[in-house]
Amino acid sequence: MTDLWWKSAVVYQIYPRSFADADGDGMGDLGGIIDHLDHLAELGVDVLWLSPIYKSPQDDNGYDISDYQDIDPLFGDLETFDKLLAGVHDRGMKLIMDLVVNHSSDEHPWFVESRSSKDNPKRDWYWWRPARPGMEPGTPGAEPTNWGSAFGGPAWQYDETTGEYYLHLFSPKQPDLNWENPEVREAVYAMMRWWLDRGVDGFRMDVINMISKVLPLTDGRATAGAAYADGSASYINGPRNHEFLREMYDKVFAGRTEMLTVGEMPGVTVDEAIKFTDQDRHEVDMVFQFDHVWADRGGDPWKVIPLQLTVLKGIFGRWQAGLAEVGWNSLYWNNHDQPRVVSRYGDDSPEHRVAAAKMLGTVLHLHRGTPYVYQGEELGMTNFPFRTIADFRDIEALGQFRQAVELEKKNPEDVLTVLRARGRDNARTPMQWDDSPNAGFSSGTPWLAVNPNYPEINAAAERADPDSVFHHYRKLIQLRHEEPAVVDGDFTMLLPADERLYAFTRRLGDTELLVIGNFSGDTVRAEIDDAIAWEDAELVLTNVAEPQGLTMAPWQAVVYRRTT
Ligand code: GLC
Repeated sequence: MTDLWWKSAVVYQIYPRSFADADGDGMGDLGGIIDHLDHLAELGVDVLWLSPIYKSPQDDNGYDISDYQDIDPLFGDLETFDKLLAGVHDRGMKLIMDLVVNHSSDEHPWFVESRSSKDNPKRDWYWWRPARPGMEPGTPGAEPTNWGSAFGGPAWQYDETTGEYYLHLFSPKQPDLNWENPEVREAVYAMMRWWLDRGVDGFRMDVINMISKVLPLTDGRATAGAAYADGSASYINGPRNHEFLREMYDKVFAGRTEMLTVGEMPGVTVDEAIKFTDQDRHEVDMVFQFDHVWADRGGDPWKVIPLQLTVLKGIFGRWQAGLAEVGWNSLYWNNHDQPRVVSRYGDDSPEHRVAAAKMLGTVLHLHRGTPYVYQGEELGMTNFPFRTIADFRDIEALGQFRQAVELEKKNPEDVLTVLRARGRDNARTPMQWDDSPNAGFSSGTPWLAVNPNYPEINAAAERADPDSVFHHYRKLIQLRHEEPAVVDGDFTMLLPADERLYAFTRRLGDTELLVIGNFSGDTVRAEIDDAIAWEDAELVLTNVAEPQGLTMAPWQAVVYRRTT
């Protein structure tokens, strides 16, 4: 069972450019992470996941890699990396790397070769296609398919050198690698083994359910008013996805113990996730699904609708039930692509922020699965007060704004309203360490503005305050380490129709936990079966000074335990 160590683990995600800047250039770096390892050890997390630190032109903040086996000078060098890894291991933690192999940078030597001529040996390492039949190459609409890219504009870039197009599901500087080519796969596996041999403990795999494409590549369904079609049916969970991951396992992970692999999979279904995470199939340990972070958009990425708690509970309930027997869930509210959860599904007003952040953490961490904490979540960090588009740095925000306003003629203020709520830069503002200038993140000018609320919300203040969000997260992590029912207990959703209370039980043997979170600013009584008996049970954790049994104060959370 040692390989399933991650069932009782908590992972902490670091977005290096925004974590801590040791050399004063305004950009976080490896030295900054080393300086703050004790913060993470005190929090009690088991694993650190680093967003990409590899050599990169930084078109998508490092998710565009030009050398998979070197560190970008912005962040440091391999020697500093080894020091960081040793520091992590010395503290009893593990470290996993981001693996971005659906695409490379267009500045990667593989792509430089590939684009150089049609008969270059690496031509077939990427997706090259001629213009649409009968169309003049390089003219609007001549792209091989009608797909849009994630960051605005078409998913194909015309390349004059050879008069053909290459596929990029993300930015034009992120050409998609052709996983059909066995040489590509071998090169990726060799690179992964190199990192594991260096001592890293696994990988978070970027958009790994997009690596297998449906052949031939064909047009996607167009929607009225949209500049480009949605091609995802041709690349989400393609026909060879499972085969490729199984091959990766055999060639990279087999025989290695104590690894962790987690696949980021936008659009993955429960049924597919069961297969991806079935330990007997040897693919990945867990996946990041997106249903719960798409709950407030009503099927349209450019819409923001108020969260309906019943919808959120329906999603989590389905995932908990689906992976109860086979497979394993990951649990997250936040990462570098999502807005801050306390602003999104909680209440970031001065009155309720602390309670709401603790409640959200409690509900998430008490589910069955491996929880992920994104930097600053343990402080209850909030969304940023963006005013204009000039305040954003993210390639997605800027590209989508341009497409929406220029091509689709949307009202810029409406687009901004969505970006303020959803924009990825909300998560990427610098980590708030203390109340000194720039929140102690950097002595230089931070690459992205610090949230002005840092004098109140910062790590130094929270470490000193036993009632802080930080110490609540510390207790949640400790509870997972100490209470087997949190790890292995079964899951039963209660009150599924309630729009304010999120309630469930976890049972393992004769231990039963009751978890309730109030997702509202009202005082609400939890009308559950057995309420009287539960009120006499042991109160393991709450976030209010004077709990009143099952009468829940605004944004209150409780965890009760009993033996039956
Ligand atoms: C993933 C990453 C995101 C990146 C994209 C392209 O979704 O999390 O940050 O922009 O893949 O690599």
